[in-house]
Amino acid sequence: MSGSVKKAAITGHPVTHSRSPLVHGYWLKKHGIAGEYGRVDVPPETAEDFYRNFADAGLSGANVTVPNKEVAAAACDWLDDAAKSMGAANTIWLDDSGRLCGANTDGLGFLGNLDQLAPGWDVSRESAVVLGAGGAARAVVWALLSRKFTRVHIVNRTFKKAKAIADMFGSGTIAHEWDNLGTVLEEADLLVNTTSLGMAGKAPLEIDLSPLPKTAIVTDAVYAPLETDLLRSAKARGNQTVDGLGMLLHQAVPAFERWFGVRPEVDDTLRNLILADL
Ligand code: ATR
Repeated sequence: MSGSVKKAAITGHPVTHSRSPLVHGYWLKKHGIAGEYGRVDVPPETAEDFYRNFADAGLSGANVTVPNKEVAAAACDWLDDAAKSMGAANTIWLDDSGRLCGANTDGLGFLGNLDQLAPGWDVSRESAVVLGAGGAARAVVWALLSRKFTRVHIVNRTFKKAKAIADMFGSGTIAHEWDNLGTVLEEADLLVNTTSLGMAGKAPLEIDLSPLPKTAIVTDAVYAPLETDLLRSAKARGNQTVDGLGMLLHQAVPAFERWFGVRPEVDDTLRNLILADL
């Protein structure tokens, strides 16, 4: 392999099931770029050392997945605004002077998906309800605040985790107990599930959608299955729905552009390629 071939990889633990190699591999081929995208297993015990000495890995850049996003961010010399406010990086690279830089594109992935599948979704929208308080919720809350939602309600089984996210972002975010869901749904323009409920092999997300206005858009970060019970019930009562596959695909766009210098598209061929692998 020539020294000019740029190499990137998904790093985290485990990485065997990641679909990122499929996504980036598709774009490398489509654009005729002599690059590589692989998998590097980085267990938590060695993560700090790995990211601090990232130059030794022989990679131009990397994606970072669970459980290493926070450790990677801490190892960076520079972070973009999203990574800084979330305290987590999912995309890293070395700049010309060898400094480790980090970005968080998960929130951009959420926005890119809605922008593509529900254009105008954020016009005159004020109130959003986010279910869950993990890493995906953090990214979604960041994204909604960046599009000027004035009230982002975070509803989670474990209240203190919702409170921690609300404290992290401050103004415009409100943490709620799960029992309060019905009340906040009444004013929602957008409902987002970021919990793992509804994922193949997990319990379904069973919530009463009756207080939700029919004009609200409903979206799910879960993409396997593509049509979750939540999306099916929302569609049946007349709400516009957006599946979560594009969130995964769009978060990869800025990363690919950063490492390989071409801004790729999320096209139907790519969606079908990933769907066939689910
Ligand atoms: P990620 O980083 O991908 O967002 P996570 O940190 O594991 O994933 O978060 C999963 C989310 O799903 C959490 O909000 C979790 O709620 P808790 O904070 O109370 O654990 C939520 N979740 C998982 N199983 C759940 C269940 N059976 N009922 C309600 N919420 C659940």
